Parts: sequence; C-alpha cells; structure tokens
Amino acid sequence: MGSLGQTAVILGLCSLLTVAWGLVLGRPILHAPNISLVGYIEEFYCIVPNAPKKVAILYVLQQENQPKAFGEYTAYDGNQVNFPLKVKRDYDGNFFCMASVQNSSAVPATISDVHYFRVIEPVEGVELVSDPPSAEVFVGRGLTLTCIVRKGTHISYQWSHNGTPTAISASRQYLKQATLEDAGNYSCLARNQLNDTQVYSVSSHTFVRVKVPVSKPEISLTVRKDNDVYLIGVICSSDTGTPPVNFTFTVQNKTGRRLIFQRRDTLSASLTVPVALNRDEGQVQCQATNGDGPVDSEKLTLKVVPVGGAVTLTSESVRRYFDVVGLKLHCAVERGTFPRFDWFLNNSSLGEKEDFDIIGKDGQTLLLTTITARSSGFYHCEATDSFGINGIKSEKLFIDEKALEHVSAAAFAVVLSCFLFLVCLVTGCCVYGVIYRRRLPSVKPRPTFLSTEKDSLESEDEEPVEKEYMDDVELVNAAKIAYTEEGEVESVDEWPEIERALQISCMDESIERSDPPEH
Ligand SMILES: *[C@@H]1O[C@H](CO)[C@@H](O)[C@H](O)[C@H]1NC(C)=O
Ligand SMILES: *[C@@H]1O[C@H](CO)[C@@H](O)[C@H](O)[C@H]1NC(C)=O
Ligand SMILES: *[C@@H]1O[C@H](CO)[C@@H](O)[C@H](O)[C@H]1NC(C)=O
Ligand SMILES: *[C@@H]1O[C@H](CO)[C@@H](O)[C@H](O)[C@H]1NC(C)=O
Ligand SMILES: *[C@@H]1O[C@H](CO)[C@@H](O)[C@H](O)[C@H]1NC(C)=O
Ligand SMILES: *[C@@H]1O[C@H](CO)[C@@H](O)[C@H](O)[C@H]1NC(C)=O
Ligand SMILES: *[C@@H]1O[C@H](CO)[C@@H](O)[C@H](O)[C@H]1NC(C)=O
Ligand SMILES: *[C@@H]1O[C@H](CO)[C@@H](O)[C@H](O)[C@H]1NC(C)=O
Repeated sequence: MGSLGQTAVILGLCSLLTVAWGLVLGRPILHAPNISLVGYIEEFYCIVPNAPKKVAILYVLQQENQPKAFGEYTAYDGNQVNFPLKVKRDYDGNFFCMASVQNSSAVPATISDVHYFRVIEPVEGVELVSDPPSAEVFVGRGLTLTCIVRKGTHISYQWSHNGTPTAISASRQYLKQATLEDAGNYSCLARNQLNDTQVYSVSSHTFVRVKVPVSKPEISLTVRKDNDVYLIGVICSSDTGTPPVNFTFTVQNKTGRRLIFQRRDTLSASLTVPVALNRDEGQVQCQATNGDGPVDSEKLTLKVVPVGGAVTLTSESVRRYFDVVGLKLHCAVERGTFPRFDWFLNNSSLGEKEDFDIIGKDGQTLLLTTITARSSGFYHCEATDSFGINGIKSEKLFIDEKALEHVSAAAFAVVLSCFLFLVCLVTGCCVYGVIYRRRLPSVKPRPTFLSTEKDSLESEDEEPVEKEYMDDVELVNAAKIAYTEEGEVESVDEWPEIERALQISCMDESIERSDPPEH
C-alpha cells in the first residue's frame, strides 16, 4: 500500500472521527397506546427526529424502576423502531426509550419523555368479606366489610345499602357504631374498563344483622295441679333483645345442680318442675344470651306452701300533698307462696269493675279513688291458692263517703298543727333575732335562717300549698280564740305538749310525703 492509500485511510478515519465528535443526538420520541388489555399485542415506536444519515442508532425500550430492557433494535437512516409487546399485568407503568450511536460511547445517549401505559386486567371473582365473619354486630359496636377481588387492575368500587348507592368508593367500609338502621343488604360492585364499550364488573352482597343485646330476664313462677302432682312453671323472659336467644335454667338444691338448655326464637322460655307441697326443692335461676355476655335473672325458691293462717285487711289513705285522694286497701295472708287475692263488696266479687283499681302483684291491693253510694259498703278480701286448694276470707271493713272525709279532716289537723308550729318557730326566731341584734349591734343580722325556711316551703310545694297556707290564717286565729276562751292557764300549760305533738305529726307527715303516692 502506497502513501496515497495511507493518506486516504487517515483522512477517512479523521472524517469519521469528525462525524462522531461533532454529532449531537436529539431526544427520541416514544409512541405507545395509553391503555390496553392483558394479552393484547401492542406496538411501541421510538424514533429520534432528524437523526443523522448513515449512523446506526441503537434504541432500547425500558420501564421505570425495572433494570431489564424490553428490547434493543438498531435503525439506520432515521427510521423508527418498533417494539411489539404482548401485554402483561405488570407492564402497567411508565415507559421510556433511550437512543445512542452504535459502537460509540463518545456521543451521549438521549432519553425520551416517560409515557404512562395503563394495563387493564378485567375484574374477576369478587367476594364481600365481613369482620366479624358472621356479619352480625351488636348496636353500638363496629363491623368492617371488605370487597375482595381475585383478579383485576384499576378497579373502582361502588357500594350500596338496601339497593341505594352510597358515597363510599374504597374497597372497604366501616360501620363504626352500628345502629339498627345500618342493618340490611350490602352490596359491592367492582368494575374496570378499557374504553366506554369494554367495561367489566362483578358484584357480591351480604346481609348485615344489627342485634340488640338481650336484656336481663325476669323470672316468674306459676303453680298448677295435674293429677295430684304439683307442677311449678318457671317462665323466663326478657323485654328486649334480638332472637334467637339461648336460655339456660339452673336448678340448684342441696345435693346437686341441673342445667336445662333451650334455644328460642322468641324472648322467653319456660320449664316445668314437679314438686311436693311444703318442701324446699331448691332454687331456680335463668340465664339468657344472644351472642353478647350472658345475663342472669334473679333466683327464686321452688317451694309450694298453700295459703293458711289469718287474712288481714288494712287501709291506708292515698295523698297528694295534703289532700287525701283515695284509699288503698291491702290484703295480706299469713302463709302461702302462691296466693291470689279477690275483693268483695257486700259479698259480691269486684272483678275488674269501674271505680275499682286492683293493683299490685296477684291483686293484693285495691285502690279506691272515689267513694260514692255505689262503692260504699262492706269490703272484704279472700286469699286463694292459684292452684285452688284453700280460700280464706278476711274481716269486713265498712267504707263510705265519710271514710275519706274522716282522713281528710285528720290530714287537715296535721296541716294546721304544722302551721302553728311554723308560726311559733318563726316568731321565736324573730324575737331571738331582735335580742341578738341588740346585743351585738356591730354584727350583721343573718337572714339565712328565715330565708331557708321560706325557700324550702316554696320549693317543695309551690303555689297550691302557699294558697292553703294563707287560707289557714283565719282558722289559726279561730283556734287561738277557742283556746283563750277556755282559759289562759290551761292553754299555757298545754303549749309544750302541743309543740311536741306538732313536731311528731310534722315528722310523720314528712315521712309519708317522702314516699310519694302512686296516684
Ligand atoms: C393518550 O393520552 C394523551 C393525554 O392523556 C392524549 O393526548 C393522547 O391522544 C392519548 N393517546 C391515545 C392513543 O389515546
Ligand atoms: C459494532 O461492534 C460490534 C462488535 O463489537 C460489531 O459486530 C458490529 O458490527 C458493530 N456495528 C457497527 C454498526 O459498526
Ligand atoms: C341484595 O342486593 C343485591 C344487589 O344489590 C341483590 O342482587 C340481592 O337480591 C339482594 N338480596 C336481598 C336478600 O335483598
Ligand atoms: C374499545 O376497545 C376495543 C378494543 O381495543 C375496540 O375494538 C373498540 O372499538 C373500542 N371502543 C371504543 C368506543 O373506543
Ligand atoms: C336435687 O336435684 C337433683 C338433680 O336435679 C335430683 O336428682 C335430686 O333428687 C334433688 N335432691 C333433692 C333433695 O331434692
Ligand atoms: C346457642 O346455642 C347454639 C346451639 O347449642 C350454639 O350453637 C350457639 O353458639 C349458642 N349461642 C350463644 C350466643 O351462646
Ligand atoms: C254477706 O254474707 C254473709 C254470710 O255469707 C252474711 O252474713 C252477710 O249479711 C252478707 N252481707 C251482706 C252485706 O250482704
Ligand atoms: C252494701 O251494704 C250496705 C249495708 O247493708 C249498704 O248501706 C250499701 O249501700 C251497700 N252497698 C252497695 C253498693 O250495695
């Protein structure tokens, strides 16, 4: 080879180097679909605009945060390269392509903008899962519902409760403090879409029960006789609670304990225990639960004693403040565990007639609020066994209109005496206050004693009593006159006793009033 040839080679090399050194590669552009479905074939194109001719450009397709490239292609003469991809679920993400001059590290590589490629995998296999799994929750407690799908990307959730869509768009929803209104059919619809026509959706639903805890059960006993056998019926019932309820009766005697279990779709359960008369057969208690903590009833003794001994009838006035508004007749029997009481006027049974109000357990009390000609006469009561062995009558008690007046007069005397007592007290205090003030002029008078007295009167009884209090002044004056007429000496002698009597009757009154009348 001659010098000419050598020169040519050198020149060639130089020109090549010049090309290489002077070369600046523009940024490539990536063309790709925005969205696709798993399994589809999609093409990603990459090109450097105005690429220098005759230069081999190497294109690499890459996904952000993925070390491995999707492919490398070389293109000449400014042609674009095409990367065909079979779409997979994890291709969802940002893509970019990189361009560089082949076999030359002298020219810096350039990178395209990122392109977000959304991969849709149609939603499949949905399940609505509740925590707790029973989908049952007590009022005030929490429950979580989760919509779980087996497959799918870019899912949106739509919840509905009893067919009405709710605002929740997450895959999970919480009932923090369940109320009864939260109960019902919850459904979750999971969906995704490729475009407006290719929409995928699945849904699932579950029924949420909101339960009320069973309330403390009431236990009661009844007795009946069946072919010479006495049977105690034990009834256990709760007022509130969502069925089913599990009831457990415990019968405990000295030698052992027996448990009887019953599951009920109602709020009550019952048990029958055969017993012998006058014998302690132990104690019975029941327990109720509907999933929350169990609640126990009181304990009752299983013992049947027939009624016996004397039946006594007592009467008691019913007051509202100082007015007598009725009479309460009370019937009691000496023995008997299951007595029933019947009431009679002039030997005819009262039953459930008007003017008469039979109240209390087993009809033990008769309440008379008005006494007219029709309701006056001889009253008596009768105690009977509910299983019908014995019937015992009380003494007769005569009651007519005067009975109420009589007690009213008695009550009035009490009012009067209390008033007198107050007058004395207030007068005493005033006198004492005057003397006290004279002795200690520098000390300020203390009106608290008087004012508390007044306050308590007003606050307790308010207007009606205050009126009564005023009306009574005349009567008090009349009473005073009566006393003076009888003679000074006697009345003076009587004062301390009267005062003591007043204190006693006032105390009686306050005791009675602390136990308010039922009417
Ligand atoms: C992709 O989305 C961009 C903007 O978000 C839009 O300009 C472009 O037309 C979309 N391309 C395709 C193929 O839908
Ligand atoms: C780049 O170099 C490789 C070997 O290193 C070679 O096989 C290939 O042909 C070269 N390509 C170009 C365009 O020069
Ligand atoms: C519950 O809701 C779903 C969807 O809203 C409905 O298909 C289903 O019949 C409902 N079930 C009941 C028991 O109402
Ligand atoms: C939705 O996408 C499919 C598949 O890519 C296509 O065949 C169909 O025409 C598209 N529909 C609309 C409304 O874009
Ligand atoms: C006590 O209860 C057990 C079991 O219910 C019963 O077998 C036993 O006869 C009872 N004993 C008495 C003394 O009642
Ligand atoms: C009630 O009894 C049934 C049947 O024995 C049982 O399966 C259930 O767990 C019980 N429920 C409660 C709240 O104890
Ligand atoms: C009620 O009956 C008894 C005897 O049964 C009788 O002596 C009495 O006179 C009767 N009383 C009235 C008011 O009828
Ligand atoms: C009950 O008997 C008494 C006395 O015989 C009589 O005064 C009264 O009116 C009678 N009462 C009724 C409601 O018949």
